[in-house]
Amino acid sequence: MDRLIVEGGQRLSGEIQVSGAKNAALPILVSSLLSPHTCVLENIPDVVDVRTMCQLLGVLGATTSWDGPRLLIRTETLKSHEAPYALVSTMRASILVLGPLVARWGEAIVPLPGGCAIGSRPVNLHIDGLRALGAEVRIQHGNIHVKAKRLKGARIAMEPSSVTGTENLMMAAVLAEGVTVIENAAREPEVADLAAFLIKRGARIQGCGTNTITIEGVEALNDGDHHHRIMADRMEAGTYLIAGAVTQGDVTVHLPSPDLLDDICTTLHATGAELSRNHGSVRVTMDRRASAVDVTTGPCPGFPTDLQAQMAALLSLAEGVSLVTETVFENRLTHVSELRRMGANITTNGNQARIVGVDKLSGAPVMASDLRGGAALILASLAAEGETIISRVYHVDRGYERIEGNLNTLGANVRRVKSNNA
Ligand code: EPZ
Repeated sequence: MDRLIVEGGQRLSGEIQVSGAKNAALPILVSSLLSPHTCVLENIPDVVDVRTMCQLLGVLGATTSWDGPRLLIRTETLKSHEAPYALVSTMRASILVLGPLVARWGEAIVPLPGGCAIGSRPVNLHIDGLRALGAEVRIQHGNIHVKAKRLKGARIAMEPSSVTGTENLMMAAVLAEGVTVIENAAREPEVADLAAFLIKRGARIQGCGTNTITIEGVEALNDGDHHHRIMADRMEAGTYLIAGAVTQGDVTVHLPSPDLLDDICTTLHATGAELSRNHGSVRVTMDRRASAVDVTTGPCPGFPTDLQAQMAALLSLAEGVSLVTETVFENRLTHVSELRRMGANITTNGNQARIVGVDKLSGAPVMASDLRGGAALILASLAAEGETIISRVYHVDRGYERIEGNLNTLGANVRRVKSNNA
């Protein structure tokens, strides 16, 4: 397993081009199952989860090829309606194939995705929603087995709102007979990016970005190739902005729609960072120690849970006491024990972390246990004194493209030790 070795203490400065959003690319890739036509996708991030998803779709019957920077994916015929456990167990987002498979081919078998470091990650909303659409769903031998001649539109109320739950059921409803209304739908921009692509292909969807999405089912999506450019990754962008703040540096991230970063910019500004925005970029400059702020995560439009751990890294060095409350997942504070190893003064009580800022962190061997917690450890190591060795970096590689390359472009000193030289 690869490790990153970080020599802390450098102020980061420079510019980064933000990659395509992993959490938009995954459902959009899966949506290719809904028709036999070619999807031509640009700005696909080169991250492990995308490669895993392409592998899974290949097992089901999709063919993929690259035309320069564009990924072409189509599923003319189905090779299998069963997602292999070996792949599903490494990527929970595999559950997204359920809706499209049963919508287009009437049957799907997907292993129950297990929990992960951040929580039990139930899938009851996906299952209940498919049942509401008239599917027969059986859970046996660790598999979710879904069957339906043709799904029928229904009213589905989600509690809580689920991002992939909304995406799965929206894709299922696109080919259903009649109208489906998803209430308390997720409002994350990645859901809207999927909907925008489906609408280009002839789906009839209204209300994305609000908490009620209406889908009028169609017999089939339109013929012909369909092009889409994946939206920018707001979590990657936010991570690099926090990297600029925690090293008291000056970092600019380039992305087409800077308004995606409103929530992180507001919070960083509250810590004392200077944020400036112009067409297609956001710049953070921090010339002093951050001030403590309280952060509470929530479904969009709340503060994104996928930036909570990174903010905790910044607040570990802030002046004052910060309360970080995680309301989306039940166990998303696993980075705290590793930050403590670096000298952070954090106590946790349930889903809340009380961070008493210290004036320095010291480098230490630490271990990533999930994607964003791993990113948080990297951010802390950039500002820490001395060397930090971060193990299990495979967690970070699931969602960040060339993270050490980008950080070194900004002046960091990060070295990857490949597992075979470990
Ligand atoms: C998506 O996960 C993202 N993943 C996550 O990003 C992100 O943290 C999360 O949304 C919240 O924004 C992808 O888009 C691939 P949820 P998802 O269903 O859809 C509960 C990252 O770091 N719930 O919106 O799995 C659940 O327990 C990853 O990039 C049910 O109760 O999250 C949680 O408390 C991590 N029953 C809440 O809903 C269900 O059937 C929100 O989870 C489904 C979810």
